[in-house]
Amino acid sequence: MTPRWGILGTGWIARLFVADLILTGHHVAAVGSRSAQTAEAFASEFGIAQAHSSYEALVADPDVDVVYIATPHPRHHEDATLALSAGKHVLVEKPFTINTTEAESLVSLAAERKLVILEAMWTRWLPHMIEVRKLIADGAIGEIRSIIADHTQKLPDDPAHRINALELGGGALLDLGVYPISLASDLLGKPVGIEATATFKATGADAETGILLRYDHGRTAVIYTASNAPGPNRAAIVGTEGRIEIDSVWYTPTSFRLYDAQGAIVSTYDSEVPGRGMQFQADEIERLIAAGLLASEILTPSESVSIMATMDQIRQKIGLRYPTE
Ligand SMILES: NC(=O)c1ccc[n+]([C@@H]2O[C@H](COP(=O)([O-])OP(=O)(O)OC[C@H]3O[C@@H](n4cnc5c(N)ncnc54)[C@H](OP(=O)(O)O)[C@@H]3O)[C@@H](O)[C@H]2O)c1
Repeated sequence: MTPRWGILGTGWIARLFVADLILTGHHVAAVGSRSAQTAEAFASEFGIAQAHSSYEALVADPDVDVVYIATPHPRHHEDATLALSAGKHVLVEKPFTINTTEAESLVSLAAERKLVILEAMWTRWLPHMIEVRKLIADGAIGEIRSIIADHTQKLPDDPAHRINALELGGGALLDLGVYPISLASDLLGKPVGIEATATFKATGADAETGILLRYDHGRTAVIYTASNAPGPNRAAIVGTEGRIEIDSVWYTPTSFRLYDAQGAIVSTYDSEVPGRGMQFQADEIERLIAAGLLASEILTPSESVSIMATMDQIRQKIGLRYPTE
């Protein structure tokens, strides 16, 4: 039977994900909100059978198999714990949690309950990224020496906005920087050294953070993230025999070029996907559930913990703490 989705939270990203799920034939069975009125409006807009007026009621719904957590980051741990404790598989939005301690707690609860937990780092399952990983594994660019990537946007300055409010997990690093950090983790593993510098909004949330991740044999990842400056949003993977340049916006469905060591284009790739492209992560968790597997090879729960550990270390360097810590 196709797993039945329950949507926890009705904000901006929940709307986009549900639109992709419905467009691509997934089964959205229920939605839960802190307010009955909001849940009902969301359910009627998307044609969802069940509207629940609390997250507790959503996770208790016997017609739900997998819960998508789409609340602000400081709630991910609590809301994912609620869903796992009710026996549901979980897809939890990025960043996985606020810190490593919370991440480890979720991963061990999922393992204990024999349930799937997957971080919704949707970029990992996009067709262009599958192709990029294939080319690298085939040796198309030789040994990777560096990754140069940004995730930068000009977002509102309103102190109450989620990107600026510390109590909602505000800051460029956790919200946007997690994408290039996850890319570096995917292709280079766990860093052996970290340098970082940041500027801050009046609220204390980081506005822009520059990061240098060091790996063994002198390899590096050079990362820039900002919520106050619209940058290129491109990614380059530089190898000894060539490079891959992923076009803007690299973390969404897009195109890329493979260059040889002389700088000539060897091949180009263009992707056309239905909707925004968030359905591929849903396909993955459904595949795991159907196969009785607990971890995706493309992003394991322990790698999500490792990415949180890298972000904890960056936060230590720039002096960023959240009120719940
Ligand atoms: N994958 C992506 O491309 C992507 C893009 C944007 C955001 N995200 C991630 O998704 C999560 C949600 O982001 P968003 O932009 O969708 O946020 P949002 O529009 O503010 O929505 C968050 C939802 O969470 C619920 N919520 C529970 N407690 C809340 C609180 N104290 N304050 C505000 N909302 C609360 C609300 O739903 P109810 O009122 O129904 O309870 C709200 O609609 C974040 O962790 C973010 O990093 C991912």
